[in-house]
Amino acid sequence: MAFLNSIRSVVKFRKLEINRTNRLLRKAANVDDLRKLAKRRLPIGVFDYIDGGAEDEITLRRNVEAYKKVSFKPRVLRDMANIDTSTSLFGRKLSFPLVLAPTGFTRIAHSEGELAVVRAATRAGIPFTLSTMATRSIEECASVAESDTRLWFQIYTWRDRSVVKNLVERAEASGFEAVCLTVDTAVLGRRERDVRRGFTLPPEVGLGTIIDGVKNPGWTWDFLTADPIRFANVEGLTAIDGSTAVDLAEHMKSQFDPGLSWKDVEWLRSIWKGPILIKGIQTVEDALIAVDSGVEAIAISNHGGRQLDEAPAPFDLLPEVAEAVQDRLEIICDGGVRRGSDIVKAVSLGANAVMAGRPYLYALGACGERGVDHVLGLLHEGVERTMALIGAASMNDLSQELINRAD
Ligand code: GLV
Repeated sequence: MAFLNSIRSVVKFRKLEINRTNRLLRKAANVDDLRKLAKRRLPIGVFDYIDGGAEDEITLRRNVEAYKKVSFKPRVLRDMANIDTSTSLFGRKLSFPLVLAPTGFTRIAHSEGELAVVRAATRAGIPFTLSTMATRSIEECASVAESDTRLWFQIYTWRDRSVVKNLVERAEASGFEAVCLTVDTAVLGRRERDVRRGFTLPPEVGLGTIIDGVKNPGWTWDFLTADPIRFANVEGLTAIDGSTAVDLAEHMKSQFDPGLSWKDVEWLRSIWKGPILIKGIQTVEDALIAVDSGVEAIAISNHGGRQLDEAPAPFDLLPEVAEAVQDRLEIICDGGVRRGSDIVKAVSLGANAVMAGRPYLYALGACGERGVDHVLGLLHEGVERTMALIGAASMNDLSQELINRAD
């Protein structure tokens, strides 16, 4: 009887969750609404880990504001009856120019974590990049992939290169399409919100967490009833498997190689035959070295404002980089995207696509997998609507002619 009653309570709790999600999503009109919902549902330390940036968070804000400094030059009477938002990367089609950025520890937002995001990305027809520091493994992600899923794998370079080789081989065996080498993490940026909160991964259970847990019952229930969070890709390969709480900065300092150089790009090429994306380019000079290195793509990125504060906003850098590299590799503009119109602006100024992390993490934290579907739908619709309103029926119609940079 007691057993039956507890089943009934679980079913009731689930129903309440579904009703709550429906209600919330109906009214979540944009990414900022989902951010507010995530702030309400997540423990504050978890929210701050996702939301925060380095030091004074100048770059974090600048990434977003850069998009607002330019407006459109809308053209009219151009027959907008059929809009095609699709484009291609590495010779394959995506339904609109967005790639989901690698984010570590995604299961702290929601227990389904990366699996929910892979499924939502598949439905949306766009690629998902799995982080080395993910909480679902390469193989788990591949197991929920469908024939049209596009999985990319992000690499942090461990001092022990055999760890990297192992990850790359597993990504290849699991059908991943591309690798993404992150190059802006010689050391971890100082995220002062995490310092103040004493934030660890996985979150450590102390008095503060217990109080927070009571205040956030939806998250707490999910966290306590799901299988424990682990560093799913590297467990068994390194000393750190996620079973004990770690300070991220200390962990990265001890494990990651600050000696990473362009020679390692050559090494990566020798062990990976598919496309390589270098993520973390922040100058025209380095973009040109990337061209010479023979990689297929770069992401202009400052790690979402989480590394060097006072780094330039990727969107501000984009026109110069695009002009310098002249189609010799594909360009992804990463950071600050909050609306479909931002994506249209980036493509107009020379990006092949943008990357975004926080929008889907807010959505996942707020409403789980359905939240991710919702935010990808909002961004896609935003691209389509903006194209209709500026007079561009396809990606080929987007150019700097449609952008007012003098604002
Ligand atoms: C991990 O890559 C982070 O930015 O926290």
